[in-house]
Amino acid sequence: MQSSERRQAIIILDFGSQYSRLITRRVRELQVYSELVPATTTLAQLQQNPHLDIKGFILSGGPASVYDEHAPNCDPAILSSGLPVLGICYGMQLLAQQLGGFVAPASGRREYGPATLEVLSEAANDPQIFRIFEGISASPAQTEQLDSPPSLTPLSPLRLPVWMSHGDSMATLPDGFKVLACTESNPVAVIANAQGMVGLQFHPEVSHTPQGKAIIRNFLYRICGCEPTWTASSVIEEAVEQIRRQVGDERVICGLSGGVDSAVVALLVHRAVGDQLTCIFVDTGCLRAGEREQVVDTFSRHLHIPLVVVDARERFLGRLADVIDPEQKRKIIGEEFIRVFEEEATQVGADLSRPSPIDRPDARPIIFLAQGTLYPDVIESTSHDTASTATRIKTHHNVGGLPEAMTLKLVEPLRMLFKDEVREIGLALGLPEEWVWRHPFPGPGLAIRIIGAVDEARLEILRAADAIVIDEIRRAGIYRELGQAFAVLTPLQSVGVMGDGRTYANVVAVRAVTTGDFMTADWARLPADLLARISHRIVNEVPGVNRVVYDITSKPPATIEWE
Ligand code: XMP
Repeated sequence: MQSSERRQAIIILDFGSQYSRLITRRVRELQVYSELVPATTTLAQLQQNPHLDIKGFILSGGPASVYDEHAPNCDPAILSSGLPVLGICYGMQLLAQQLGGFVAPASGRREYGPATLEVLSEAANDPQIFRIFEGISASPAQTEQLDSPPSLTPLSPLRLPVWMSHGDSMATLPDGFKVLACTESNPVAVIANAQGMVGLQFHPEVSHTPQGKAIIRNFLYRICGCEPTWTASSVIEEAVEQIRRQVGDERVICGLSGGVDSAVVALLVHRAVGDQLTCIFVDTGCLRAGEREQVVDTFSRHLHIPLVVVDARERFLGRLADVIDPEQKRKIIGEEFIRVFEEEATQVGADLSRPSPIDRPDARPIIFLAQGTLYPDVIESTSHDTASTATRIKTHHNVGGLPEAMTLKLVEPLRMLFKDEVREIGLALGLPEEWVWRHPFPGPGLAIRIIGAVDEARLEILRAADAIVIDEIRRAGIYRELGQAFAVLTPLQSVGVMGDGRTYANVVAVRAVTTGDFMTADWARLPADLLARISHRIVNEVPGVNRVVYDITSKPPATIEWE
């Protein structure tokens, strides 16, 4: 990021495509900051943000047709701003129509799925217009790399596999535009003009368009004149500065969940304000094997971050005794968590309404709560037009509802980051790799992986079985390929035979899924010999288990967790 206050940015107007977020991520992967905003956002609104140096716009795809009665438009001021605009799919149709072209429903075949883009060789004669294809070869391996010097010669003739999804076609081009490419069933698949306006009928952001990233890169670097300023070190530098400005010399608390987001938040805040930060880790009694030790080891010993570990096992397990209903378990854990957190924060000097604790006369009021809200949460809440996201708090697993008496202000350094960016800066901040790639773990922990009542004995069985699942998956080298993997303790008992005796013991289920966003998931096709090892070890090493089953259900219809 530039050291100046303003940050080069590409603004993506969201017309409702399922790929809008993906476009935003692709741009950032190319080291240019991007923001996804609702399609109705005006240039004037965007210009109110003094930190943005807008270098160009991308109009996303969307489900509408531009000739529909209520089809969404783009602020005309954006199109006349003189800044480059890339229209994708619906965005291309809209760009053309708003600039005076004419779009009609496709009369012939509609195109969905893979297609071959044929770049017209005569288009290459106009280098000004052709920049979107500069340096691109039919083979990704031969396409120029980001750091190679730009070559003006197009690598033609060019035929590229692309991913299409559209029903309309361009009947008349706006003035000044030329057709750059076509497909078998669409004579106008790419258009551009000399002012840096480009329309792509296909989706460059999806992996099914192998050269898509190179095409977006040309838009960013060759057309918008962006520089690679969005890097892990620049993100860290800016976040640290921002935290310092916000926090001053006040105190900050941060709840560690054991996951990557809260860990990265803690590292950023610690880098910014040092020991003004206190982290709180609550042992609910429902943690995985070795989790508490790992948190202490990583944060206290390795990263030297002030950490308060609260042993609240008795409290939680006391309240969970005999509770069977999963939602009730969640509610109890959520409430108890807030209570414990509040008490601990007060101990460190949090509660403004009470004097500092006598045993900590130096304790100062804590007024900041650092929290790991991510960009997808922000997009989600703005796109649904909810109240200000600034005060939105995630549910208990991410620290949870704010204790009201504490008048805490939020520090949310990850607000503009995607998960993969969080991981990258976690690595850059020295978070151990193993931590960075940890599978998510639900706030209620093992309590929702024990079907039925939770008690210490059952927790012990599950912890031991779960540790074996993870250990074997790591040994097989496939931990990172999986979205989540864990053991579930079922309320079933089954008959078995061990040695010469009959047993009647617990059934453990193993769940492993692959997923991108955790909204949908598929059961992982774990190798049979890996499953065999897991099963063998669990029944041999975990007393009280005599049968292991593997969950082969996708989400939907099942969920990832069993409760
Ligand atoms: P499901 O089971 O709904 O899980 O398919 C989707 C993702 O959410 C996690 N999950 C939770 N996380 N508190 C949390 O913090 C919860 O109550 C909770 N329930 C599910 C689950 O582990 C998966 O990553």
